[in-house]
Amino acid sequence: MNKDYVLLDPWHIIQDGFNSKDNRIYESQMSIGNGFMGIRGNLEETFSGNSLQGTYVAGVYYPDKTRVGWWKNGYPEYFAKVLNSINFIGIKVFLGNQELDLDKVTIKDFRRDLNMKEGTLTRTSTIIDSNGRETKIESLRFLSKKRKEIACIKYSITPLNYHDTITLIPYLDGNIVNEDSNYDETFWDEVNKGFIEDSAYLTLKTKKLDFHVTSATSFKLLKNKTEINTTPSTLIEDKYVAHKLNIYVSQGETLTLEKYVSLSSSRYYPKDDLVNNVVRSLKSAKNDGFDLLLDEHVSGWNKSWESNDIFIDGDVKAQQSIRFNIFQLHQTYTGEDSRLNISPKGFTGEKYGGSTYWDTEAYCLPFYLGTSAAQISKNLLIYRYNQLGKAKENAVKLGLKGALYPMVTMNGEECHNEWEITFEEIHRNGAIAYAIYNYVNYTGDHKHLLDFGIDVLVEISRFWEGRVIYNKNKNCYMILGVTGPNEYENNVNNNWYTNRIASWTLEYTLQTLEFIKNSFSESYEDVLNRLAIKDSETIKWMDIIKKMYYPKDDNLGIFLQQDGYLDKEDLLIKDIPKEDLPLNQTWSWDRILRSPFIKQADVLQGLYFLGHLYDLETKRKNFYFYEPRTLHESSLSPCVHSILASELGDKEKAYDMYLRTARLDLDNLNNDTDDGLHITSMTGTWMSIVQGFGGMRIIDGTPSFKPFIPDQWIKYSFRVLFRERVLNIEVSKDKVLVTLEKGDPLTILLYDSEIKLTKQH
Ligand code: BGC
Repeated sequence: MNKDYVLLDPWHIIQDGFNSKDNRIYESQMSIGNGFMGIRGNLEETFSGNSLQGTYVAGVYYPDKTRVGWWKNGYPEYFAKVLNSINFIGIKVFLGNQELDLDKVTIKDFRRDLNMKEGTLTRTSTIIDSNGRETKIESLRFLSKKRKEIACIKYSITPLNYHDTITLIPYLDGNIVNEDSNYDETFWDEVNKGFIEDSAYLTLKTKKLDFHVTSATSFKLLKNKTEINTTPSTLIEDKYVAHKLNIYVSQGETLTLEKYVSLSSSRYYPKDDLVNNVVRSLKSAKNDGFDLLLDEHVSGWNKSWESNDIFIDGDVKAQQSIRFNIFQLHQTYTGEDSRLNISPKGFTGEKYGGSTYWDTEAYCLPFYLGTSAAQISKNLLIYRYNQLGKAKENAVKLGLKGALYPMVTMNGEECHNEWEITFEEIHRNGAIAYAIYNYVNYTGDHKHLLDFGIDVLVEISRFWEGRVIYNKNKNCYMILGVTGPNEYENNVNNNWYTNRIASWTLEYTLQTLEFIKNSFSESYEDVLNRLAIKDSETIKWMDIIKKMYYPKDDNLGIFLQQDGYLDKEDLLIKDIPKEDLPLNQTWSWDRILRSPFIKQADVLQGLYFLGHLYDLETKRKNFYFYEPRTLHESSLSPCVHSILASELGDKEKAYDMYLRTARLDLDNLNNDTDDGLHITSMTGTWMSIVQGFGGMRIIDGTPSFKPFIPDQWIKYSFRVLFRERVLNIEVSKDKVLVTLEKGDPLTILLYDSEIKLTKQH
């Protein structure tokens, strides 16, 4: 039984009490971000206990030297890291002469509240120091949803049983290390620092790639809510600037510091102008004041919830977790900048290096399609389109033509050093092609195919053409030496999913060419010329589609995960002693590789993606064969099983799998939330409700729903954006109500019957 980390509440994540041991878990859960930067839930004051100080700035990374046993040709040159950046939340506090270290005092009460509705993190605590002095501390922070460069903290301190001089030192600290640095190196150099009027600023640059990041800070001081004028002294040290304020405070009086912060990088301003711009936006924020900044931030969140909240009646655990997942996703990626992407931990930790994985296309895209304007999803596709050149270079490195997108990347280059596992997962190329299909199918933006999509599809198809081998004896095409989505087996032959997604990509590319020929006939020749497409190529693709080999077992009626899968020991997850789970923390790699246990959805991933091409019976047989063998030791896995279980009418299984994905981080289910949140699998929670319980699919441009309600719930409703409409689907035990809340009339399918929706007045 897992312990409860947070209190149950529909809109709040509440930590009640404090212990240093669990602090990193709470730091992850209390992370806030605005798509442009993000911070873990670190405390403002000094804390010498168990903590990962984390501040992350979108798109600023470091190519750390790889660490491999034996270097082999073709290995990626570097292992990229998202950079832990300037700590801007810090406020040192002295009560009299004694510095406050929250690890060294008695914490009488402690409550933190992540308010998901408003996007704020508040804390109230009372501490008793070694001199018996009792002090109340309150803080509120947010990273502005409206002004992406701005962060604000309101920090209040009240001596409850004493009076003394209190010293507050709001600072910017660039003495930051990445915990995951391969060789314990530091990644930052100082560029400049100083004071301009009442602002302190600090600029750092990365030792490689020359990214510059500037942060500036200023403050207002209030006593019992009235602003007081004070002249601070200034502190300046290596990669460190601060203001220092000494104020006498009587017992019961409240001293409040409003800390204003601005931060930006050389990705947004020329290096020479960075300081001026950052200080300018800081000044304007400070002039507007804390209350106005907070108001505009909160109304930004309210607006966002208006179009994408999911409401669940009768199950607060499920309600809290879906909102937490939606909230974290919108904190991570806001989609204005097509150079940015979504990393598995977002801005909440360092694991996975802040890089882009296939997670984006396979898992995240559906969420953004259903909850954000089309341009935001489109930008995820443009990100890969812009990296096509690098993907072609990657293919050349392997001695192949076409494009091989990297499994892990920052800028289009492969930047992970696990060869057999990560690098051999060439299936990721298929997810990138599938995302184009998914986007166009959802949005109806067919022009995207002509302008961007076809280039990517053709180059991926060329890669598959070169990567298959023709087996003369068996007169079929095979793909050898790969790792499928199941990372618990490497270097396998004919992973069904990889073969299937490869041949599907070829089919979709040919269909897209045909579509362009018919719908954009005036541009068709240009496309053929631009991409130098030869007839011999498309003929070859047709042959591969026709003769692709798919491992299967006719007796069981299933597709085989790869050649020889049935030779393995016939064991099920229920045969594994409980104390051995998760296997990746207890078994040797050799034992995992030879076992029949599957890390994550693999064949089922294919049946989920290509669900429209398979009948229910095929899905049923495969699901009930693979589900008892799947460990779900990747957070990406349970949602796929949940959606398929929903389709098969297995409500209990669907609900179990939903909770597993939804509460993964709130309940620390995989015992790894301290590393950061599982951001990319949070979309799975949303998908399990919308596509699973709600049964949403897009069939020939028409949204189709087949909702059911889990027994545990009284009612639920979800909103989806579809082609500039907002649809609200409300499901109770005996009724389904679909409302068109915004936009032009629309025909939908409800349990396969056509219904025309018009807006209600
Ligand atoms: C999964 C991959 C995934 C990666 C990042 C791994 O554990 O097996 O499929 O891309 O995590 O989320």
